[in-house]
Amino acid sequence: MPVTCVFGAQWGDEGKGKIVDYLADRADFAVRYQGGSNAGHTIYVGETRFALRLTPSGLLQGATGVIANGVVLDANVLRDEIKMLTEQGVDIEGRLRVSDRAHVVLPFHGPMDRALDASRSADWVNNTTGRGISTCIGDKHRYEGLRVADLLSERVRAKRLRYLLERGNQQLQGLGADPIDIDQSLAEAEEWVRWLKPLACDTTMLLHDAWRAGKEILLEGAQAALLDVDFGTYPFVSASSTGANGIASGTGLPFRAVDKVITVAKAYITRVGSEAGPFPTRADDEFGRQMQRVGKEFGTVTGRERRCGWFDAVAARYVCRLNGVDTMALTKIDVLRGIDPLRICVAYDIDGQRIEHFPADLDALQRAKPIYRDVAGFSEELSAARRREDLPERARAYVAAIEEEVGVPVSLVSVGPERTETVSLGAA
Ligand code: IMP
Repeated sequence: MPVTCVFGAQWGDEGKGKIVDYLADRADFAVRYQGGSNAGHTIYVGETRFALRLTPSGLLQGATGVIANGVVLDANVLRDEIKMLTEQGVDIEGRLRVSDRAHVVLPFHGPMDRALDASRSADWVNNTTGRGISTCIGDKHRYEGLRVADLLSERVRAKRLRYLLERGNQQLQGLGADPIDIDQSLAEAEEWVRWLKPLACDTTMLLHDAWRAGKEILLEGAQAALLDVDFGTYPFVSASSTGANGIASGTGLPFRAVDKVITVAKAYITRVGSEAGPFPTRADDEFGRQMQRVGKEFGTVTGRERRCGWFDAVAARYVCRLNGVDTMALTKIDVLRGIDPLRICVAYDIDGQRIEHFPADLDALQRAKPIYRDVAGFSEELSAARRREDLPERARAYVAAIEEEVGVPVSLVSVGPERTETVSLGAA
C-alpha cells in the first residue's frame, strides 16, 4: 500500500513506534504530521533502544524522515536527536527533511505550558508534558507564531522574533512565572538557523511528488485519537489532530491519497497526565497494578506513571469509525499473561442506560460504569510467537473478541518490544 497511516487508538503510549518500525522496511518516506516533542516513541533495534520525540521512527529502517508542517518543531530536541542518532551509527545524511511551514516552539512556550497547568484548578488541569505544544499551537492559531520559513528569513526573523519573545515574557509574567532570557534566546535562534537551513524545504512538494511517483509513504501519528483536540476527551486532550484526520492539514497530501489506515491499540488501555480526565475502564486493583508493573507503564518523556485499565471497545469503535480504520495492531498482549478473566468493555451504563457510543459529555463519561464481556485468560509465555498458530487458543480468542466488539480486524499482534516479536495475522 503506497500511503499508509499508523496512529494510536487510545490515550497514547500504545507502542506506535514499534509498529511503525515494523511496517517501515518498505517505506521510502516516514512522516510525522502533527504534535511535537510531547511524543516519546521507543524502538528497539537489536540491543539498542532508541527514544525518539520528533524524528519519524521509520528513519531507523532507511526511509527518508519528514517532519511535516503539522508538527511544532522544538529545534533543540531535534538537534539532540540528530546528534544521538549520528553517535549511534544511524546515517541520516540527506535523509531528514523539515517543513518550512512547521511552526517553531519558542523558548517561552514550554514554561508557558507549565505556568498554565499550575494556574488551573485541580479539576481542570491537563498536566501537559510541558513541552510548549499547546501554547505554540495556540500562537499559530492566533497568528502569532513563527514558522521555519520565517525563522530562516533574516528579514522576518529580525522583525518578529524579538517581538514574539517579549510578548511571551509578558504573558509568562502575567501568570507569575519567570521570564526567559531574550538575548540568549535570540542567540540560540541564530544557531538553529545555521543547521536547520539545509534540512528545511517545502515538504508538501516533496510528498506530493513521492505520492504521484507511487512511493511508499508511512504517516506516523503521535499521541492518540482520544487526545485529539476535536474528538478526544476535551479539554483533557493534546492540541493537534492526532488521528488520520490530521493528515491532510498536517502534510498537504490530499485526504484521498491515503490507501490504508492502521490504528495501534494496547490489549488493555493506559492514560497518563491529567487525573481529572475521564477513564471509564480504569482498574485500580491488583490487575491494574500488574499491567503497570509488567507493562512498565511509565512515560518515556516524563517518567510519569500511567494508569491502567481494561480494553475499552466503546472508545475503540468510536475511534475506528472516525478515522476510517482498516485494521488494528494490538500491542503488549504478553503483559496480560496470568490475568483471568480478561475483560473487554462493550458498553457503558450511564445513569441506568446502556450506551454503546462514546459521549462528548465528560460528566456522563465520568459516571459511566463499564459493562464487561469476560474472556478466559491465558497463562502461556507469548514472546516466541510469530504466527497465528503460535498464539495459545485463549490469546487468539481474546483477539477475536476484540475484533468482534470493535468491528475491525486485527492485522498485527505485538508480543514483546523487539521488532521481531510480532505476529502477523494477515488480515485485510
Ligand atoms: P500536551 O500534548 O503536552 O499539551 O499534553 C496534553 C495531554 O496530552 C496531557 O494529558 C499529556 O499527558 C497528554 N499527552 C501528550 N502527548 C502524549 C503522548 O505522547 N502520550 C501520552 N499522553 C500524551
